Amino acid sequence: MLTKENKIEFVTPIISTEEELKTLLDYFKSKSTFILADENTVKLISVIADISPMIKDAEIIEIKSGEKNKNLEVCHNIWQYLSNNQVNKKALIINLGGGVITDLGGFVASTYKRGIDFLNIPTTLLAMTDAAIGGKTGVDLDNFKNQVGMISSPIGIYYNSHFLSTLPKNELISGFAEVLKHGLVKSKSYWKKCTNISFDDLNWEDVILGSVEIKCAVVKRDPYEKGERKLLNFGHTIGHAIETFMMNQSTPIMHGEAVAIGIICESYISTKIAKLSKVELEEITINISKLFPKIELNKSTFSNLIELMKNDKKNISNEINFSLLDSIGKGIYNQNCSEEMILESLSYYTES
Ligand SMILES: NC(=O)c1ccc[n+]([C@@H]2O[C@H](COP(=O)([O-])OP(=O)(O)OC[C@H]3O[C@@H](n4cnc5c(N)ncnc54)[C@H](O)[C@@H]3O)[C@@H](O)[C@H]2O)c1
Ligand SMILES: [Zn+2]
Repeated sequence: MLTKENKIEFVTPIISTEEELKTLLDYFKSKSTFILADENTVKLISVIADISPMIKDAEIIEIKSGEKNKNLEVCHNIWQYLSNNQVNKKALIINLGGGVITDLGGFVASTYKRGIDFLNIPTTLLAMTDAAIGGKTGVDLDNFKNQVGMISSPIGIYYNSHFLSTLPKNELISGFAEVLKHGLVKSKSYWKKCTNISFDDLNWEDVILGSVEIKCAVVKRDPYEKGERKLLNFGHTIGHAIETFMMNQSTPIMHGEAVAIGIICESYISTKIAKLSKVELEEITINISKLFPKIELNKSTFSNLIELMKNDKKNISNEINFSLLDSIGKGIYNQNCSEEMILESLSYYTES
């Protein structure tokens, strides 16, 4: 039976050389091409301009950087620009930037005239290892993250670790939280590879490749997050609540910093209701704490965090759904845990 699920091709080509990118673009050469970038990533066009005339001659659509611009108003402006310029269904949009650009650009392209082609060129570690892969596109609505969107795959994802050389270090560390998460839920050897040497000595090409392999394999098996893909939410149930809470307090923290706290708390819960050993909990806590300095969380805020978790769109009814660890490299999903246990894990974080 032809269902929505099996009509969409989820095996997005991963492009790792300039020659492969040129070949792919040659195939689309009759199309008008647009590069969507933000005020920082627009400077990176020069890095790839000589690969193909499709890039050199592309029209540039520049938006302001940052999560607050991942909204429908910015989409509207881009749709309007395309429409006013009579851009037809044969156009190609190249998303050059971090997760904000790949999420928003993928959504704009997938909806303009019921869908035009787009190519992702991620420029942050987070976008390379996470956001650009897996077809989730969309924007925020009011205070709700990723409230409007769809699953839609790019024609390819081009990787060039050179982009990381201009990325601020705090952005690099923030993205690394997702990298560590991939190791924790799927591969002990990858976790060891990422934690056994100091952060500054990491080989970024190897790190990116490892994460891409893990995420692509999971998404290919479960594109619509019916099962295994939920593993990638490890660290995010508590992490999202902390991220939202801090944002509402006007003391925002980076996504990766919030996920890092989530990883420690959810690893603690894993020792109580899954099979994670205390030794591995300690290994996780030490390695995360090395990169992510402690963020003060007052005990009086814990009940607000629980409320935010209950409202999370990933929870069915009022139960708080977790992905946890049986051991490093072996995640499990669809785990419910009591509020007391969540409170205990937050205390573990604040006291560890
Ligand atoms: N679709 C998914 O599956 C998925 C997964 C995870 C995260 N996301 C989304 O990704 C977004 C976060 O992505 P992000 O962390 O990449 O943020 P971002 O796109 O805002 O980029 C972070 C900052 O770095 C700048 N920048 C980007 N590349 C640079 C470079 N090479 N050199 C210098 N500066 C550079 C940007 O201009 C921006 O100021 C969030 O909106 C999140 O919801 C999506
Ligand atoms: Zn994340």
